[in-house]
Amino acid sequence: MKMLIVFATKTGVTKDVAHALKKKLQGDVTVEEMGYVNDRMIELYDFIVLGAPVYMGQALAKMRRFVKLHKDVLLEKRLAFFFVGGDKDADMDALLLKGYGQTFFEKSERIVHMGGEFRFEKMGFLSRFIVKTVAKSKRRKTGQAGLPVLDAESMEELAMFLNEVLLEAGAPDAIVEV
Ligand SMILES: Cc1cc2nc3c(=O)[nH]c(=O)nc-3n(C[C@H](O)[C@H](O)[C@H](O)COP(=O)(O)O)c2cc1C
Repeated sequence: MKMLIVFATKTGVTKDVAHALKKKLQGDVTVEEMGYVNDRMIELYDFIVLGAPVYMGQALAKMRRFVKLHKDVLLEKRLAFFFVGGDKDADMDALLLKGYGQTFFEKSERIVHMGGEFRFEKMGFLSRFIVKTVAKSKRRKTGQAGLPVLDAESMEELAMFLNEVLLEAGAPDAIVEV
């Protein structure tokens, strides 16, 4: 069983999440940034994990384009998805359906929201302004800090599932006594 984690990112959070996930997995697992992945590479793997950050209520556009472009070869594989974003309560099914479509939604074996982070130093002026304004209004309404955090529990949940997949596939065939 060969597993490939493909990620897209703008400020680096999803990249870190993808690498942290790999560290928790036992087996033949590769992490690759979306831009370096093509059909021929996808062909080499049995299980693909696709990770994307959420921007303006949708999976990052370049990951949506990637999935569309490699649709045929991706749909031959086993698939799981994770999202990274400020709104941990976002409807993940809706994100997947809207971003990648019904066929991918039906094929997905897991959809996990990993929480998120704001890396202000990596944002442009406009992005910084938008997220600071949203965070401030959240803080006013809820009294909480309004800053997102990564969710270790979700990471564990996805890692546990993927380790089961890797273990199942790697387990030697049962010896049948005659
Ligand atoms: C302009 C902007 C818009 C965003 N919109 C959303 C959003 O609609 N929903 C959400 O959950 N997070 C949103 N976020 C938060 C990002 O998803 C979060 O910072 C994430 O960790 C970024 O991941 P990346 O570094 O891999 O790009 C937004 C962030 C920025 C800067």
